[in-house]
Amino acid sequence: MKEKRDTFGSKLGIIAAAAGSAIGLGNIYRFPCMVGENGGAAFILIYLLIVICLGIPIMLSEFVIGRRSEKNLVGAFKILAPGSSWTIVGYIGVLCALIILAFYSTVSGWTLEYILKACTNYFSGKDINAIEQGFVDFQNASFRPILWQIIFLILTAFIIFKGIKDGVEKYTKILMPALFVILIILCIKSLTLEGSSEGLKFLFKPDLSKIDSKIILSALGQAFFSLSVGMGCLITYGSYVDKKDNLKTTTLSVCLTDTLVAILSGIIIFPAAFSFGVKPEAGFGLAFNTLPMIFDQMAGGYFFCIIFFVLLAIAALTSTISLLEVIVTFISEEYKIKRSYATILGSSCAAIIGILATLSLRKNSILTLFDKPLFDNLDFLTANIMLPLGALLIVFFVAWKMKKDNFYDEISNNGSLKNGIVNKIIFFIIKYIAPIVIVLIFINQMFLS
Ligand code: TRP
Repeated sequence: MKEKRDTFGSKLGIIAAAAGSAIGLGNIYRFPCMVGENGGAAFILIYLLIVICLGIPIMLSEFVIGRRSEKNLVGAFKILAPGSSWTIVGYIGVLCALIILAFYSTVSGWTLEYILKACTNYFSGKDINAIEQGFVDFQNASFRPILWQIIFLILTAFIIFKGIKDGVEKYTKILMPALFVILIILCIKSLTLEGSSEGLKFLFKPDLSKIDSKIILSALGQAFFSLSVGMGCLITYGSYVDKKDNLKTTTLSVCLTDTLVAILSGIIIFPAAFSFGVKPEAGFGLAFNTLPMIFDQMAGGYFFCIIFFVLLAIAALTSTISLLEVIVTFISEEYKIKRSYATILGSSCAAIIGILATLSLRKNSILTLFDKPLFDNLDFLTANIMLPLGALLIVFFVAWKMKKDNFYDEISNNGSLKNGIVNKIIFFIIKYIAPIVIVLIFINQMFLS
């Protein structure tokens, strides 16, 4: 007898959960870092092109595989391509989820420390050097970063424990609107600062001469990371989507909101940074050092600082939920283990790798590879290699391995939603354009740079 599987209770539920997965530290913390390091508007332009041409079709492909199979990441490939080696894609995806969750929980933990710092008015009267030193001291503090990281993972596990409808859906439906309200408040604040227009120019006036192969690969990695595509996270969420929901509009809403939040984060950070004379290349320091200093010099800054870090924490939480869900659905379905045990097992594995990632950021840590901390290596490996490769395999699977009719049935809900031409164009992009572009970007980076 087939066990009854949990599903999302409403259309808004799946959109909130998938957008919650997509919107995260990738938008508010990693995107501004990347924009700052890669020359501003030119990077954003490439980023947008990649989201439209690749992100949307890949996300739709993931939803299609998920809903068609109604299975976990590995089970999905077992059902849709029985007896083939496509299941490897599923295993790689689960591994990728584990690695991302591991280093992601490091930064997620920092957000909790910084909420506490903001509440206790720690930043008050400190200059940028003192704040930066505080950050270094915190990273080198023996167990504080690890403690916060574990607390964050426990929080994630708690929500996953409760299942899809009463856990993931219930919490993301509250957390996501809260996040939007906070974003808008901070944007208005940043735009009304004196000298903010320089920051806007940096964000929106592209200097095309800056575009090179490194920027393109970084934009590709950033787009996939931010949209949560390329490892099958949305195959797992897709497997819980009701058969009546419209996958195309869901995909569009998620991609749109994710991109909007990335741009809004840029609008919060850069005008404020320029207005206070901070260099845009400040990297991760933009969110954790620069902004608190700027808040401290603003009227009402105490509150803005708190809400900013609460925002970061919420965004991170809805993303770690989606990562852990991939692992837990896989363990519990494939090995027939109770969801509660699978949650403990999955989060413990993530904690072990995650602690190593956190320790690698300490001064003189031996956990380095290619002269970079393990943390940076895990980030590069997943965003710039595993996600593009996974995305390539996923579109390849949908276009060349799965039955074409299955794809059309899923995106049209068995023919009840029309727009035939649009569907054909989407299929054409998935079959030819997406794989070619991904391969070209790879070749370009490896051999021509
Ligand atoms: N997209 C999230 C962010 O922007 C991170 C994330 C969650 C993710 N689930 C994922 C990235 C799956 C890649 C794959 O912060």
